[in-house]
Amino acid sequence: MLVKVKRGWELPEHMATPEDVFMNRRQIAKTLAAGPILAAGAAPLLMAGQAQAAGDPTVDLYPVARNPKYKLDREITPEQNAISYNNFYEFGSHKQISRSAQRLSIRPWMISIDGMVEKEFEIGIDDLLKKVDLEERLYRHRCVEAWAMAVPWSGFPMKQLVDLAQPKAGAKYVVMKTISGNKSEMPGLRQFWYPWPYTEALTIEEATNELAFMVTGIYGKPVPPQNGAPLRLAVPWKYGFKSIKSIISFTFTDQRPKTFWEALAEKEYGFWANVNPEVNHPRWSQATEWLLGGSQRDRVPTQLFNGYTEFVSHMYDELGREPLWR
Ligand code: MTE
Repeated sequence: MLVKVKRGWELPEHMATPEDVFMNRRQIAKTLAAGPILAAGAAPLLMAGQAQAAGDPTVDLYPVARNPKYKLDREITPEQNAISYNNFYEFGSHKQISRSAQRLSIRPWMISIDGMVEKEFEIGIDDLLKKVDLEERLYRHRCVEAWAMAVPWSGFPMKQLVDLAQPKAGAKYVVMKTISGNKSEMPGLRQFWYPWPYTEALTIEEATNELAFMVTGIYGKPVPPQNGAPLRLAVPWKYGFKSIKSIISFTFTDQRPKTFWEALAEKEYGFWANVNPEVNHPRWSQATEWLLGGSQRDRVPTQLFNGYTEFVSHMYDELGREPLWR
């Protein structure tokens, strides 16, 4: 009999996951992974992404211990909302892409580390996972469209990836790209007016900031395709479009690239994209936001740097717009 265990993200966020609960969650995840009959029989009942997560080769790795340092000021978003209301334009320019995203094949998944590094190399996601330390973090996420969520991501600090890459002294930026090319897996790629592949970038200083996090899991399971499997970024002090999904390359360079949304509308989606309630989008206010799982009419104030000022303000001017080092 499957006993319902109250999981970490259902607890008040100030409580760290107790060890016995943590172990039970791990056992349940293993049972799901090992049980093809259960998985097959239960598939129609599972939410999009859960069926694939149960068959994901990394399912045994989760849940991982939570790092209690990163606190929330709000309830964790219900899992159903976070995995069914998504932005992933490669699957379509609307929010209900979670089902079609299940077509994305996430193995084999090679990641290229190239450009201004000591030695360029490729590494498979499973080999990369053996070289890093996984932890769970509760982070806020603020989309530029003024919706927000709070989720338990699993993953590892981006600094660990930068250290593996060994960038050369002159490198200033790390440019990331999403997989692209297979239009039958990703029908949104047929929208030829978008500048595919989806491209994002951070300065090396931002990428090695302790908050910059490479995500491989969510809600104690492998991250599902609609949320960016098998590897995505979470930079919670910036608008959500910086948090690029399904990454296949990290290129170190001394040239600032044009990012996907910047190439489309520079004034609306600039390179820095730090959350700032005083700088409105040309077509809507950024002063407030609504929380996924709640009503769009119930607004809460937006915070500078999405509430992460203590971690990141030293990198930018007092308006939170421009870096200090330019
Ligand atoms: N990454 C890719 N490759 N394609 C996208 O369309 N959308 C971005 C970001 N990463 C996007 C992407 C935007 S606008 C947001 S708000 C977040 O993903 C949404 O993440 P979520 O669907 O996990 O909430």
